[in-house]
Amino acid sequence: MDTTAFTAVENSLYLTLDGRALDSRAPRPVPGDPTAAGVAEALGHDRGKAPLVKSQVFDIAVRSRILDDVVRSFVARHPDAVVLELGAGLDGRIERVQPPSTVDWYDLDLPAVVSARERPLPAHPNVHPIAADLTEPGRLDRLPEGRPAVAVAAGLVAFLPQEAFVALLSGLAHHFPAGEIAFNSYTRFHLWAIKDHRGTGSIAGVVANPAFDDPRDPQRWVPQLQPAGELFATRAPEVTLQPLAMRWFTRLAARSAALSRRGTCVLRYRF
Ligand SMILES: C[S@@+](CC[C@H](N)C(=O)[O-])C[C@H]1O[C@@H](n2cnc3c(N)ncnc32)[C@H](O)[C@@H]1O
Repeated sequence: MDTTAFTAVENSLYLTLDGRALDSRAPRPVPGDPTAAGVAEALGHDRGKAPLVKSQVFDIAVRSRILDDVVRSFVARHPDAVVLELGAGLDGRIERVQPPSTVDWYDLDLPAVVSARERPLPAHPNVHPIAADLTEPGRLDRLPEGRPAVAVAAGLVAFLPQEAFVALLSGLAHHFPAGEIAFNSYTRFHLWAIKDHRGTGSIAGVVANPAFDDPRDPQRWVPQLQPAGELFATRAPEVTLQPLAMRWFTRLAARSAALSRRGTCVLRYRF
């Protein structure tokens, strides 16, 4: 698989892969990703060039752990669940979550990415890769129906035009009888910050989503979605792992939901 032919959107997966690989080498890693470093190496990706600063690595790591916990908690309550990893990139979340064998796991991404996942990520009998453009109609056609589902998306929303994003949320809420959707929030502050950060400047030109600040918006667009919480990185237990000055700053920010929303935040909805 020639990953040098990735588009700018597909290439964004290296930002998050690098974040998890760097975290996995920390003295006290956050999700402790067992695959990220090996996957990057297998694809000949030079992690030494990772443009991420420490706080970005921390944010990516905490976001991964929060979404891992969302999936863990859902499959513990629903052993017959379907898990959807939307915009899976090269994330091997299943290796961290270790769901029961009764769970079916679907990794969805653009065709080039799905084919790049084949070699470096371990195969599992219950993992089903799906090559699909999530902005296209029919994106959910190959998914089973009639089972509870948890859909998670890390780093995807920024790339979805508003109409396609809403259609995806609505499609999920209608395709499955019950479930949860969780994704990292993408606010107007993030939209602004993405352009100026060394690490994320590379994707500024391909961001397609207008961003939203009010976590109740998805329910306005898709009434079936019941807000089920905002999970702020500022309030994560891993804040104790940050350097002293950052820890103080984060603890101050944690007191305010408005400030915390400017950082990493996972939005969770039930349907
Ligand atoms: C920032 S990366 C995150 C990857 C992975 N979730 C992670 O945390 O490592 C965004 C991913 O979304 C995928 N993506 C973007 N637009 C997409 C679309 N329209 N359909 C399917 N996948 C898409 C990209 O190919 C990329 O793998």
